Amino acid sequence: MDAEKKAAVELLIKKNILVSPELLSKIEKIGMKGIQELENNPAMLQEALQEQAEKTPSVHIAFSYNETPKKRDCKDFVDYFNARYNAIEKILASRPEMKNTTTVGRLKLSKGRNISLIGAIMEKQTTKKGNILLKIEDPTGIANVLVNKNKRTAYETATDSVHDEIIGITGMSNGDIIFANNILLPEIPIHELKKSPYEGHAIFLSDLHVGSKKFLSEPFTKFLKWINGTTGSPEQRDLAKKVKYVFIAGDIVDGVGIYPNQEEELEITDIYEQYKRCAELLRQIPVSKKIIIAPGNHDSMRISEPQPSFQGDIFQPLLKLPNIYPVSNPAYITIDKTPDFPGIDVLLYHGYSFDYYVANVESIRTTGGYDRGDLIMKFLLQRRHLAPAHSSTLYIPGDTDPLTITRVPDIFATGHIHRSAVSSYKGVTLISSSCWQGKTSFQERLGHKPQPARVPTINLKTREAKVLKFGTDEE
Ligand SMILES: [Fe+2]
Ligand SMILES: [Fe+2]
Repeated sequence: MDAEKKAAVELLIKKNILVSPELLSKIEKIGMKGIQELENNPAMLQEALQEQAEKTPSVHIAFSYNETPKKRDCKDFVDYFNARYNAIEKILASRPEMKNTTTVGRLKLSKGRNISLIGAIMEKQTTKKGNILLKIEDPTGIANVLVNKNKRTAYETATDSVHDEIIGITGMSNGDIIFANNILLPEIPIHELKKSPYEGHAIFLSDLHVGSKKFLSEPFTKFLKWINGTTGSPEQRDLAKKVKYVFIAGDIVDGVGIYPNQEEELEITDIYEQYKRCAELLRQIPVSKKIIIAPGNHDSMRISEPQPSFQGDIFQPLLKLPNIYPVSNPAYITIDKTPDFPGIDVLLYHGYSFDYYVANVESIRTTGGYDRGDLIMKFLLQRRHLAPAHSSTLYIPGDTDPLTITRVPDIFATGHIHRSAVSSYKGVTLISSSCWQGKTSFQERLGHKPQPARVPTINLKTREAKVLKFGTDEE
């Protein structure tokens, strides 16, 4: 490299400008004089930076669980529940309605007064008169809370409440029982709709189930053709060109021995071969597009959450892909982050806990169930936890609880229910990805209606969402 070119490259590095092959050839053309001009001309420099940021995807893994496995004991469970309780209590205590909260231990002192209290729901029952009686626990004891059916808002919240969730209560205490006026959820604040200053799209896949006889190879090939810009309308091809990030929310293979007699439904019965095939497919996604990939309950690892990222022999074919970013389930990823823009935060979670909420939350069950993945996501955001009921998923206890939604994401992306939904709640985009597997006999028995071969896409500059279809609804 001649001295002039070397000086120019050093200058660009100093300015945090990535020296791409395209830029190197430009340097050759314009020479050092042109580079100096770039330095002395802020508008031109800004343009160069903008051009670079638009072309260069940036993936920052803000949180991916990576704890080494160890033997857990009773203390880990206590620490885990305390970590969850303290984190959610802190969020609740910051609500203006929850000023001057008391504790269960001090209730007797508040007889006949309006109080506010924070606690976890231990039991819930409907009384003969149709009211709801909640048994609430905080670190100082257990209290009974009566929610009268005539207090509509409190009653509706109590009806939807699940065991173990941590709530705030305002009401009148008679020393033994609290008559609730209102029930408060930790909630998320209204979130500013953050738009990237750079052109680019993120797309959301999930539940490929490679290895299953029902893997939808034809629609997936159609998807691969689209992402390579060889099929679709001019508008669709343009969108494909602008895709910078491909998120995959788990269940990437069908796995082996996941449910009884699964082998009868497998095309590929060797788990190594399933991941090899999956990698062959994902290799066909252009390397310029970054693939952020998390495991799900069909993947070959423990199903207790958080599930660590793909690592180890079995996943080698995947890990060899140059554009892959393996993350845990759940994980927080920031995309499009530059020195000038904080980036867009994505919370990626497979969604194993979702089945519980479809079955147990009345407002979800009666307004669409599995068809309304967005309602499940809203329910979890309001509770600031990915599995507020302990029995809704399996978990690994530790001194933190990574399933607590400590930070409010810009995009909350999930899978698992094999149906796609795009919605938004208080400025957070909610995405339930579709799947690439036709209806299995198991789903047939449960009455599930998968909605395969759909790809939700988000324009990061406008935050507009679109769902692309690569198959027919009958698949
Ligand atoms: Fe799945
Ligand atoms: Fe799943």
